[in-house]
Amino acid sequence: MKIALPILFAALGLAGAALAQSAGKSVWQGIYTTEQADRGAGVYAQRCGACHGAALNGTGEAPPLIGGEFVSHWDTMTVGDLYDRVRTTMPQNDPMSMTRDEYADVLAFLLKTNGFPAGVQPLDKRSEVLATIGITAEKPADR
Ligand code: HEC
Repeated sequence: MKIALPILFAALGLAGAALAQSAGKSVWQGIYTTEQADRGAGVYAQRCGACHGAALNGTGEAPPLIGGEFVSHWDTMTVGDLYDRVRTTMPQNDPMSMTRDEYADVLAFLLKTNGFPAGVQPLDKRSEVLATIGITAEKPADR
């Protein structure tokens, strides 16, 4: 029994990792386009920058939207969670005031500035689709 228990845990760990990898898409797989992020930069400047700062590093009450602390807030959550959070509470002085496309564009911009790669498919604007894309702070090992 002394040997069997660690082996059991090792096996469970492997199964868990395999499950997480097959569970859906990742923010590291190129889930938005550069064009979309560029549009999002314009939205950001108009609707977010006054509070969160032109360089996304926060001002006053508004936290940074770039860097380790921001990404670790959302680590293990989904892009859908982040999308809904932004759509329902931001801009803080006028929530839900933008179109779903604008929210998707600004989210693409946030993903780009935080170092997640662009791809060929634009970011979806449907929360239920975005809920299948996981956010992980660390890039997963190549499959
Ligand atoms: C009037 C000021 C203001 C504006 C404009 C604004 N925000 Fe915020 N935002 C805040 C404040 C204050 C907080 C912290 C309080 C809270 O969490 O609601 C916050 C929190 C956030 C968070 C959570 C950060 C985290 O670490 O989890 C995100 C994401 C965010 N804002 C995105 C945006 C985006 C995108 C826009 C533009 C569409 C925007 N905000 C516009 C003031 C603002």
